[in-house]
Amino acid sequence: MSYLGPKVHIDLQQLKKNYQIVKKEVADIPIMATVKANAYGHGAVEVSRALEEEGVRYLAVFTIDEGIELRDAGIKTDIFIYAKFDPKRIEEASKHKLTLNISSFDDLKALKTYDGNHLKVHLKIDTGMTRLGVPLEQAEAFLKEATQINNIELEGLYSHFATADEGELSYANSQLSKFNDIVEISKKLDISFAFIHCSNSGAILNVQDSRFNMIRAGMLLYGAFPSDEVPHDLPIKPVMTFTAPVVEIRDVKAGTHISYGGVYKTKSDTRIAVVQAGFADGVPRPWYIEGFVKFKNQDFKITGRICMDQLMIDIGSAEINYGDEVLIFGSNEHGNIDINHIANKIDSTSYVLVTTIGIRPKRIY
Ligand SMILES: Cc1ncc(COP(=O)(O)O)c(C=O)c1O
Repeated sequence: MSYLGPKVHIDLQQLKKNYQIVKKEVADIPIMATVKANAYGHGAVEVSRALEEEGVRYLAVFTIDEGIELRDAGIKTDIFIYAKFDPKRIEEASKHKLTLNISSFDDLKALKTYDGNHLKVHLKIDTGMTRLGVPLEQAEAFLKEATQINNIELEGLYSHFATADEGELSYANSQLSKFNDIVEISKKLDISFAFIHCSNSGAILNVQDSRFNMIRAGMLLYGAFPSDEVPHDLPIKPVMTFTAPVVEIRDVKAGTHISYGGVYKTKSDTRIAVVQAGFADGVPRPWYIEGFVKFKNQDFKITGRICMDQLMIDIGSAEINYGDEVLIFGSNEHGNIDINHIANKIDSTSYVLVTTIGIRPKRIY
């Protein structure tokens, strides 16, 4: 069936390469691969299958439904649920062998009434993210109370960094120091967690003492750096490449207004190509101000506001024809457009760019 529309090309071989690069970087510490939000827009099932083939130790999603989707697709690897514990869904979680996040005294109270099958949990301590997790001051009481509960396995102890991908690391280091205190408390209480973890991609690169015996990698696996303030030495490459076809070409005179608001006016007589991809597909709308696409290694300026389904580019006299596919971001035979470059220009992040790819673009693996 012919398809004339935006495409997201996902290179699973590159994903596997990135996984091996990260694995080597952390000297084979077990990896929990973060595949939440449809694997950051890359396709949770396909990405999880590929990582399972590489022997990843754990997968992490956000919701129980995301976990069930992976189980239904035949994924056997351990799956951790980052979301707030939902007592109403314990049975379902247990049935699908999902490992749960326990992050408050109320969560423990609800777990006490559970008399079903064996359930694995990771205890979350808040060291400065101020999101989920028990505050440091209550950590000892929390750990003690957790050990009193039957039917659950205290498999993990963890926390999450707020600033590990920034250049200034004093806050991240203070979080690490608090987490070290908690690890000491757990030793004093004689609780042996199989996995102790707090490193996300930023911390893997910036706070190397935070690796403990598991790391939680997301963005690095997808081949992008979490920010420009981490070392960019790892030879990872983007897994996702976003392209879209030219669907119309028109000659216009100098002074022609293009797109909504008429904010862009051509400076000379030129040719405008309409490209079928818009903000509903994941082309970030603010990118029109400085944005461009690539074709045969040449940049073509986005002219005027990006529409919901289409955008326009100035192609001048270039040889571009109906049906030609231009590069929106990623890397292919037409060149390379780094999502961090776009993110920096529009005050966004690589995370936002990949996770806001819409449902329309055809994903090609
Ligand atoms: C709790 C938690 N751990 C780990 C990660 C992975 O982060 P990154 O993609 O920066 O490696 C995330 C992602 O947001 C997260 O929410």
